Amino acid sequence: MIIFYVQECIEEIVSMANDWDIPMDSGIEFFCGDGSIYSESLTSKIHSMTGLDIDQEKGCKLKRNRSNFSFISTDSIEYARTYEGTSYDIISFDNPLCVYGQYCEHFNILPYAHKFVHKNKKSLIAFDIVHTPYDISLPRNIEWIEKRKQYYGISSGNLDLRFAKSFYTEKLIQQGLIVYELKCVCRELRDSNDYFYMILCIVGKD
Ligand SMILES: C[S@@+](CC[C@H](N)C(=O)[O-])C[C@H]1O[C@@H](n2cnc3c(N)ncnc32)[C@H](O)[C@@H]1O
Repeated sequence: MIIFYVQECIEEIVSMANDWDIPMDSGIEFFCGDGSIYSESLTSKIHSMTGLDIDQEKGCKLKRNRSNFSFISTDSIEYARTYEGTSYDIISFDNPLCVYGQYCEHFNILPYAHKFVHKNKKSLIAFDIVHTPYDISLPRNIEWIEKRKQYYGISSGNLDLRFAKSFYTEKLIQQGLIVYELKCVCRELRDSNDYFYMILCIVGKD
């Protein structure tokens, strides 16, 4: 049985933003898809939202449903790597939970998160993490588990949540960000396995 906690994650984003006086005026989602799982709900909480996805058809569907949504069809990792534009209140990565093309989870895009963070004002960053991957012995998952071991420096595919909090705090500090708060929020249970979380963090830069 699968239990979704997507709405709880979005409520937590709103609540943390509120606690830290982040206004929810502007947001960017790097993997918006058609929004049916998460991004459309998040868009409904933000005054002006930009969504990116490599799949043009999916993003156009979300754009038709939400007048406060602008869509850019692109490879998000390339977009972030070359970005030199404005900063956002809410920065969200609803990344695929696997290897996709030359990329894996948020591993390739997170290093560019700092480019989207406000200067002298706080932003909230949200991204997906896998706590305990399932079907790890399937041939199609072997490369993914190996990449996870390398990225986290762990010996199994499982990511301890306490370790994850210090690991990502350090990753964000290495980008020159100040981390004010960072928490893991459960997003999905699969047969009682809490395999899928979101990291939500309040950051800033001088
Ligand atoms: C987890 S799904 C997103 C679900 C969506 N946020 C929602 O609320 O329904 C991941 C998305 O990443 C997109 N994607 C995969 N590779 C990408 C890339 N390199 N750049 C941008 N989007 C990509 C896929 O097209 C897919 O829509």
